[in-house]
Amino acid sequence: MRIRTIIEPFRIKSVEPIRRTTQEERQKLLEAAGYNLFLIPAEYILIDLLSDSGTNAMSTEQWAAMMRGDESYAGSPSFTRFRDSIQAIMGFRHVIPTHQGRAAERILFNVMCKKGDVVPNNTHFDTTRANCEFVGAEAVDLPIPEALEPARQHPFKGNMDTSRLIQLIERVGPERVPLVMLTVTNNSGGGQPVSLENIKAVKAICARQGIPLYIDACRFAENAYFIRLREPGYAGKTPREIAKEMFRCADGCTMSAKKDGLANIGGFLCTNDDTIAQQEKDLLILTEGFPTYGGLAGRDLEAIAVGLNEALEEDYLNYRILSTAYLGNHIAAEGVPIVQPPGGHAIYIDARAFLPHIPPGQFPGVALAAELYLEGGIRSVEIGTLMFGKRDEHGVEHPGQMDLLRLAIPRRVYTQSHIDYVVEVILEVWRRRETIRGLELIYQAPFLRHFTARLRPAP
Ligand SMILES: Cc1ncc(COP(=O)(O)O)c(C=O)c1O
Repeated sequence: MRIRTIIEPFRIKSVEPIRRTTQEERQKLLEAAGYNLFLIPAEYILIDLLSDSGTNAMSTEQWAAMMRGDESYAGSPSFTRFRDSIQAIMGFRHVIPTHQGRAAERILFNVMCKKGDVVPNNTHFDTTRANCEFVGAEAVDLPIPEALEPARQHPFKGNMDTSRLIQLIERVGPERVPLVMLTVTNNSGGGQPVSLENIKAVKAICARQGIPLYIDACRFAENAYFIRLREPGYAGKTPREIAKEMFRCADGCTMSAKKDGLANIGGFLCTNDDTIAQQEKDLLILTEGFPTYGGLAGRDLEAIAVGLNEALEEDYLNYRILSTAYLGNHIAAEGVPIVQPPGGHAIYIDARAFLPHIPPGQFPGVALAAELYLEGGIRSVEIGTLMFGKRDEHGVEHPGQMDLLRLAIPRRVYTQSHIDYVVEVILEVWRRRETIRGLELIYQAPFLRHFTARLRPAP
């Protein structure tokens, strides 16, 4: 008989206690935090699915590599190992370290974009959009239509709509499109992968117009594994071979090593363009640091150099993708509406379908997140109206395209019994969903409002 159980491909060497709280304590914490789970101290969270970013458990090899970290201000051998590890997978000529992904985005958009420019992406992540808009450019999302239907099955829902890309470039003119981006996997669109066929098609369109293609590479390894599982012709290739093929289509990338770098901090920016690289390094020195450390310690560079390779290991990726699907499939089997098929790093519950009695203007995703915390101390995050919607000058809320609740799975952190507990809590809340009330916004910051917003139960 074949053994079907997927086990965590590691054993645990160091443990970190997690703390239970009572429902009464959680109610008080929730009120004090204005129903915003970003504002709850982490020690009051039992299972933290707020983000898969920087929450990775590092391996013995990564910890060992950190001891080799060389903290020289300039020319550290840790940078050489970092650069070589990245170039061996991604192949770009210039590798510029940054303290995390958004620093790479800020530098990229500052150098490449100006007011009035247009940057297409399958879906901009929130920091990508904010950094793009901050320099006066317009961030345009061009997901395929299937991506907007949460229940719809499609193997590559992260794909960009190539006909809309062509139309957009024709409409605004290629001179106003300094770059096109592809986010792999598409985080805001449900953690869905982009196929190599789509990457190549987007590249061909860009090449015809002389526009560079950049990959937002945060989850490149998970994307490569989905290609192997789902795209005809790739079953026999290793994730590393597939990743290399993805990057061969691109002219550069931004990366948050807090995801598939399996590190707790760090990022980088890559390009093949010598002139752009020089301008990026000049800006880097101004705000991040010398180009051989870019805001990171030598030990962080070492952890990333090792982590990028571990993220491409077959056993790891198999466990990663299947264990995320385990959560999604178990709740979907009981009727909980999720973005189908399950994504790579997270399960997204369709909060509008879960709570149809709560209008988008009353933040169903945030209300559901609060309820999962109240029920079982689980922290998740809304990806919807609070994150992407806008309130106009008359106080009217313009909703986001979808109201999703993201349960992001930190890499190598939780075991199957933790996930079984999460399933139970979600199903308990699902059974009493009709009693859940909407929320009203009482404070918002001028941008990236979801981090600090405060809310209260709607009257
Ligand atoms: C797709 C995507 N791009 C960019 C970023 C920004 O990276 P960082 O949080 O390291 O600044 C993230 C982070 O979550 C992301 O998911």
